[in-house]
Amino acid sequence: MCRVTPGPRCCPPVAALLLLCCGAPPCLAVCPAPCLCAVDVISCGGSNLSAVPSDLPSSGTRLDLSHNLLRAVTRDWTPRPWDRLTSLVLNRNLIGLIHADAFNATPRLLHLDLSSNQLTVLNASVFAALTDLEELLVFDNRLVQVVPGAFRGLHRLHRLYLSGNKFKAFPLETLGGPGGVPDLTFLDLSYNNISVVPVQSLLTFGRRGWIYVQQNPLVCDCGVSALLQYWTWKQYRPLVDFRGEFPCREPPPISRGGVTDLQSYQVEPGRWLSVPCPGLAAAAANQGQVVFWVTPRAVVNSSSGGPTDRTVVLSNGTLVIRGALVEDGGTYGCVAARGGHFDPPTPIEVNVVVGNISAAAVSGSTRGSEPFNTAFTTLVTCGVSITLVLLYLYLTPCRYGGGSGCGGQVVVLCSDPEDKESGKRRSNGKRVAFSEPQVDDPEPCGPKTPGQGQGQGQGQGQGQGHGTTDGILKNGNGDKSDGID
Ligand SMILES: *[C@@H]1O[C@H](CO)[C@@H](O)[C@H](O)[C@H]1NC(C)=O
Ligand SMILES: *[C@@H]1O[C@H](CO)[C@@H](O)[C@H](O)[C@H]1NC(C)=O
Ligand SMILES: *[C@@H]1O[C@H](CO)[C@@H](O)[C@H](O)[C@H]1NC(C)=O
Ligand SMILES: *[C@@H]1O[C@H](CO)[C@@H](O)[C@H](O)[C@H]1NC(C)=O
Ligand SMILES: *[C@@H]1O[C@H](CO)[C@@H](O)[C@H](O)[C@H]1NC(C)=O
Ligand SMILES: *[C@@H]1O[C@H](CO)[C@@H](O)[C@H](O)[C@H]1NC(C)=O
Repeated sequence: MCRVTPGPRCCPPVAALLLLCCGAPPCLAVCPAPCLCAVDVISCGGSNLSAVPSDLPSSGTRLDLSHNLLRAVTRDWTPRPWDRLTSLVLNRNLIGLIHADAFNATPRLLHLDLSSNQLTVLNASVFAALTDLEELLVFDNRLVQVVPGAFRGLHRLHRLYLSGNKFKAFPLETLGGPGGVPDLTFLDLSYNNISVVPVQSLLTFGRRGWIYVQQNPLVCDCGVSALLQYWTWKQYRPLVDFRGEFPCREPPPISRGGVTDLQSYQVEPGRWLSVPCPGLAAAAANQGQVVFWVTPRAVVNSSSGGPTDRTVVLSNGTLVIRGALVEDGGTYGCVAARGGHFDPPTPIEVNVVVGNISAAAVSGSTRGSEPFNTAFTTLVTCGVSITLVLLYLYLTPCRYGGGSGCGGQVVVLCSDPEDKESGKRRSNGKRVAFSEPQVDDPEPCGPKTPGQGQGQGQGQGQGQGHGTTDGILKNGNGDKSDGID
């Protein structure tokens, strides 16, 4: 019969009489007073609980303890192992402490919500038992620090939310490598206090997934500026979706704009290959500028790389592959502060083919200017109708203010001054900007007089290729319409 234990409450007498439960110890617990129990959902939310009820039925797969007054996740918050629990919701409590073994009893968790609590630090190995966890929410806490190894054991973690904390820096590099989080493809670090980010780490993470860093007081130096330019060109979603919430002004006017043909470089296996950084003017590549290359397998920069490394970036931005392997083939992007202006807009990626170039179906040409023109002509001759809103923008290339030490000038299209400062969320509409080549006129960002560089309805940039006018398909920020022709 029913054994009364001090732990779980036992069955009501009626049920015991009917022999519906209590057949085997330990007794099945019933739902404790403040909670509601469905078959596999236990909800104790919004009940002013300052401790987890000790007699929860451990049959559920989802436990909701949100909107309570819990201050800690203790070692013994659940007295028995809870093998079936996949979702634990602890948001909007007062949790400032998590015991080291707190999650040992719930090894099957897939989703853990600790958002809107008072955590200031994530200690090492605190989640180590959660080897199945896929989603971890710790936004809106007071985190300033992540102890190395805090995410150890999270082999399956895909999504990590850390926005709305007080991080001044975040050890992105600890996410990779041993003890890291190999499956992480989504990381939200927005709304923190991060001013300096290692561009190398952002690029590395950006290769495998989405990283969100908007709404941080990022210092817009050459590296960050170049990164944003690259992400814009890649139409990297975390940037495109939140462009207005990044501190740097408009990145230089490079956009894919329908360019699909990349310049290709071919090398036989085992041979060396040198690839200059497209668009980086040789004269401007100096003064300690760091050039990053995003290769199919890693991100390398011009200040790393010793004589034994197979892939190095020379100080003038040229990438050298010493002894190409077939796996080296793919798309390579060069991330560097661009020198000078663009004539015509230069793709910032190239194709590398290891082996027989005619066997690999690649297109493109050896001159940087041609892929753009080819793609353009193809579009036009194919009769693909593109609807373009022609904007004659009051835009003049100007120098990026904080760009000292960049080696070359980063050319930034300055838009309306209010626009620059507003930091508002902007729409992602397309627009066409016809900008003129940079002249020595030092007038900063002033409006231009119409009359030159007007475009035509089907987007045939006049005189493209020779510098009077560049047609640039620009994405984003279609909110200002000054100077529509
Ligand atoms: C929780 O406590 C607050 C303030 O003491 C009270 O107003 C509220 O009714 C309580 N809620 C519950 C569900 O007991
Ligand atoms: C982290 O560990 C330190 C030292 O062991 C402890 O004092 C602190 O309370 C822990 N913090 C959390 C949030 O668990
Ligand atoms: C952000 O960090 C700066 C110092 O780097 C500090 O002065 C400031 O108070 C911090 N802001 C917040 C909201 O924590
Ligand atoms: C360049 O690469 C090295 C090695 O990967 C790294 O330690 C360094 O931080 C990188 N430089 C920059 C400016 O990111
Ligand atoms: C970069 O430097 C290397 C070696 O110093 C040289 O062979 C190459 O032509 C240079 N590339 C450019 C684009 O200046
Ligand atoms: C490349 O492949 C083509 C046909 O696919 C062949 O005719 C040509 O000889 C090959 N070239 C080399 C260098 O192997």
